[in-house]
Amino acid sequence: MAKIFPTNCRNVIRQVRGLHSSTVQNAEARLKTFSIYRWNPDKPDEKPDMQDYKVDLNSCGPMVLDALIKIKNEVDPTLTFRRSCREGICGSCAMNIGGTNTLACISKIDTNLSKRTKIYPLPHMYVVKDLVPDMNHFYSQYRSIQPWLQRKDAKESGSQQYLQSVDDRKKLDGLYECILCACCSTSCPSYWWNGDKYLGPAVLMQAYRWIIDSRDDLSKERLEKLRDPFSVYRCHTIMNCSRTCPKGLNPGKAIAEIKKLLAGVIEKGEPGLNTTALHN
Ligand code: SF4
Ligand code: SF4
Ligand code: FES
Repeated sequence: MAKIFPTNCRNVIRQVRGLHSSTVQNAEARLKTFSIYRWNPDKPDEKPDMQDYKVDLNSCGPMVLDALIKIKNEVDPTLTFRRSCREGICGSCAMNIGGTNTLACISKIDTNLSKRTKIYPLPHMYVVKDLVPDMNHFYSQYRSIQPWLQRKDAKESGSQQYLQSVDDRKKLDGLYECILCACCSTSCPSYWWNGDKYLGPAVLMQAYRWIIDSRDDLSKERLEKLRDPFSVYRCHTIMNCSRTCPKGLNPGKAIAEIKKLLAGVIEKGEPGLNTTALHN
């Protein structure tokens, strides 16, 4: 490293950094107000309320998650939210920002300083603290659809590769990318009112992802488990889910495909490649 950055280079870098930070300090503050939902489980008698924080956008990254981290680091360490990857992959920073369910890490701060940005936890979920929703019910619904490959001739794990044609693999595009952030399910009016029995768009899209996987043998059984008045049929094709998805996916369409399979209007069809070809 010493050869790459000799002392005079390091001095130049220090001077440039110093110049940059003094420029930022001298610039007029661009104060943006974030109004954030607060609730503390340690004070159960106190009602939730909105707390305002001012952030100077000159010294803050461009995304809403940057502002939340800055507030937590510099103003109020009690502010609680989930985050991990900060690049739209883990799904943990899902929240309601300016009236839309989205991911804080890929949601740009609205730089209109006269407008406050309101931030709430995902709607119609129990709240653990501040912006952290209780995801247990959502995950138990996900577990209920058995989101893993199932075969009637299952071999010992690691002993067998299951084949899939290029066309069959393409059918999973737009489904496997889901990061289970729950933005869609918590924007769905049917899920708000019937979330105890209706599986909601995120879980149903994953159910469909396994139903149509050419390597999975239990498609019929998977469909039969969904054949009741609530699991799928509470979806009324309002399409809030697809409008909301921060990954640009279309869970409403996946649900429509499940309904067609249940009604027998379409069939899964035979796999393009016979995976038992590798048995011997
Ligand atoms: S299309 Fe179905 S799942 Fe999506 S928001 Fe509407 S009712 Fe909910
Ligand atoms: S479909 Fe989109 S909004 Fe719904 S859980 Fe998956 S990534 Fe999130
Ligand atoms: S921090 Fe991972 S999706 Fe936002």
